[in-house]
Amino acid sequence: MQQVNLGIIGGGTVGSGVFDALARNGALLSSRVGANIKVHRVAVRDLQKKRAATIPKNLLTTDWREVVCDPEVNLVAELIGGTTIAREVVLTSLKLGKPVVTANKALLSAHGEELFAAAKKYGTNLYYEASVCGGIPIIKSLREGFVGNRITALYGIVNGTCNYILTRMKLEGADFSAVLADAQKLGYAETPPDLDIDGHDAAHKTGILASLAHGFWINPKKIHVEGIRHISALDIKFAGELGYTIKLIGTVKKLEGSCRVQVSVYPTLVPNAHVLASVNGVFNAVFVQGDIVGDALFYGRGAGKDATASSVLSDIGDAMLDLKTGIKNRLPAFVPHECAGAVAPIDEVVSQYFVRLNVVDKPGVLAKIATIFGQSNIGISSVIQPEGHEGESVPLIFMLHYATNGVAAKALAKIAKLPTVKGKPVMIRVESFEQ
Ligand SMILES: NC(=O)c1ccc[n+]([C@@H]2O[C@H](COP(=O)([O-])OP(=O)(O)OC[C@H]3O[C@@H](n4cnc5c(N)ncnc54)[C@H](OP(=O)(O)O)[C@@H]3O)[C@@H](O)[C@H]2O)c1
Repeated sequence: MQQVNLGIIGGGTVGSGVFDALARNGALLSSRVGANIKVHRVAVRDLQKKRAATIPKNLLTTDWREVVCDPEVNLVAELIGGTTIAREVVLTSLKLGKPVVTANKALLSAHGEELFAAAKKYGTNLYYEASVCGGIPIIKSLREGFVGNRITALYGIVNGTCNYILTRMKLEGADFSAVLADAQKLGYAETPPDLDIDGHDAAHKTGILASLAHGFWINPKKIHVEGIRHISALDIKFAGELGYTIKLIGTVKKLEGSCRVQVSVYPTLVPNAHVLASVNGVFNAVFVQGDIVGDALFYGRGAGKDATASSVLSDIGDAMLDLKTGIKNRLPAFVPHECAGAVAPIDEVVSQYFVRLNVVDKPGVLAKIATIFGQSNIGISSVIQPEGHEGESVPLIFMLHYATNGVAAKALAKIAKLPTVKGKPVMIRVESFEQ
């Protein structure tokens, strides 16, 4: 039987999870694949640190090169995170012809193109199932399960922290900052929380999914990203009254009749009747629309020791099979197939909108705002002026018909300048999920 000696770089949440999962199911994996798997070495930063997994001392080292360059190690798992040393770990391994498994979305987002090219050049492979949505096998599904489909649209709730915060805001009518502070106490949000709540983590994952679905590498700088800091309890309440739930959605959508693709992350009004509206708490979900399969939904834990380890083990299984058969690039990590593809600038993307304004409560205000929308050719589908609000200004909510983001943003900038409009208007896009 082919012997696979795994070198794990990183023994933190995911590294410990993988060590434990292999201790539990390594024999099962070996018998299913028909090759033996064994953890050979584990590199960490601090040998004295207490870990979730009991890793024998003789396997541990603080020198990752010792692991990667060990001639006995024929498979490497990069589980340290970050984009500098992790890049070196992956490149060094690939150059030695050793396949690599990684869970590192930040690394792939920043250096994916270079790393996949290196894997090809050195005749080996890079596996990355755990980099998106923890335990959900979305990479394998896009790469293999949907290989015969054109992916017309993909919508993902891919950041558990944001989904947890938005879910609690909805259920409790609570403010963003109060729920965030609580989420940090409970360990559901990092300190500082910026990477998650400003949408960057979701953008890393959405970019990876978009690259795989559309066959050209997405430059992360081209992804339009908005986080959830500006979402208020009031927005969630009014959206609810209109029959919607606000979710942070990573959207990948082909623009009609063009090779341009919308790749974006922003808070989105999801109709309550749509399945994504009921994805709550730290759970993740990806809703895929293929031209042959139609609608498909993936749901599960997007992070955590065991869920993530499950995906790393799936990659380890694939790598074991490749090592056993000796077939190079049996399932290439990334196949460029739409070289003319490009990311559409957000200004060209067409959406419907929820707009919340704070206006002075006097006659004529609504007419002035409606005139600006009319001049911009933006139709209004409904207006709500909720009762029971007192004070200098009151909320005024508009649901707007389809318009490009560029046109809607310009109209809103004009409206914001009206003396009767107070504060910054809130604009949240509405998704109908129609093909
Ligand atoms: N946590 C999740 O739920 C999750 C889910 C999906 C993907 N991921 C991804 O998985 C990766 C690992 O995340 P994590 O949560 O496991 O991180 P973590 O708990 O911070 O663990 C990082 C590990 O890397 C080790 N390390 C850091 N620098 C090193 C170096 N130069 N040499 C050797 N070891 C080094 C650390 O050693 P010490 O322990 O000695 O400090 C630690 O064991 C990241 O890319 C992350 O984005 C995580």
